[in-house]
Amino acid sequence: MNKKTIIYGGGGFIGSHIAEGLIAEGYDVTIFDKLNFDKRNISHLGKKIKVIEGDFHNEIELKDSIKHAGIVFHLVSSTLPASSNQNPVYDAETNLISTLRLLGECVKHKIEKVIFISSGGTVYGIPEELPIKESHHRRPICSYGIIKKTIEDYLFMYNKLYNLDYNVFRLSNPYGERQNPFVAQGVIPVFLKKMINKETIEIWGDGEVTRDYIYIKDVVKAINKSINKKTPSNVYNLGSGIGYSLNEILVKINRQTGLTPKVRFQKGRDVDVPVNILDVKLLKNELNWKPETEIEQGIRITYDYLKTVLKK
Ligand SMILES: NC(=O)c1ccc[n+]([C@@H]2O[C@H](COP(=O)([O-])OP(=O)(O)OC[C@H]3O[C@@H](n4cnc5c(N)ncnc54)[C@H](O)[C@@H]3O)[C@@H](O)[C@H]2O)c1
Repeated sequence: MNKKTIIYGGGGFIGSHIAEGLIAEGYDVTIFDKLNFDKRNISHLGKKIKVIEGDFHNEIELKDSIKHAGIVFHLVSSTLPASSNQNPVYDAETNLISTLRLLGECVKHKIEKVIFISSGGTVYGIPEELPIKESHHRRPICSYGIIKKTIEDYLFMYNKLYNLDYNVFRLSNPYGERQNPFVAQGVIPVFLKKMINKETIEIWGDGEVTRDYIYIKDVVKAINKSINKKTPSNVYNLGSGIGYSLNEILVKINRQTGLTPKVRFQKGRDVDVPVNILDVKLLKNELNWKPETEIEQGIRITYDYLKTVLKK
């Protein structure tokens, strides 16, 4: 059993939680992240991890970093769903081309498994049925989703041609401690931060856009069940299987925190699908997993965390 893991993008929100989960399971963890990246997400891990600073898009640094790894986690992304359509060329050049280089290196170094965090919120596009099963057609309406979908397809190809084992997790909307409340991804920490600071929340559309939210530690538990084993399927939806509108999230935050939101509704955006709720039965049945954190409980944990961080 190979215990050596490397997490590309491991200094970020999801990567830092995956690192914690791997350490708890006794894995040897290396985090690869940008030169001089912000270490706050991983400072509590201290000497339990190795850190490599470099550029995922730099071929030499990529080749050097992978040499001693057995299991590879790919979490680097240079774009976000909402902004990716502004420059699809940049999206493809950075995210797709660099990933193909990574996959080539994985084959060369006989990597046991690649775990790729895809996007359950964007790869399907506008759903024809709910909840969305893995077999649903994939017709993304943003470049970010097209690149995730294409990487999924290359993983399939590398598996068929070169026997490279992999898991794709089509993740819904993870939230929790260490998610950055200052960027345009992660509704729950963004809303919480604005409500704590008494700022106005801008909502695109009427607030009825519905999403599937999942607490980050439930995400890690699912991923941990896939490492070091050949899973029955390669591709899994990873979400709670429950949808909430933005308006419902605001009500839940209000109930948990007592804070009242100031909201400004704006014209809806083309890149936002109206609804996205994932069917997670495959993951439940095949990997014996289930989400354990109710949304109210997760909001409470995130709120308590943000209050301490925003004070600093
Ligand atoms: N957060 C979500 O809602 C969500 C949902 C579905 C899928 N995903 C995917 O999961 C992955 C991780 O997301 P996250 O929320 O943890 O993002 P994040 O921004 O917190 O983490 C990404 C990390 O990648 C690093 N990185 C970016 N470019 C790099 C480069 N060129 N070289 C080295 N490191 C680089 C960043 O410094 C950052 O630490 C991404 O691929 C994202 O598309 C995220």
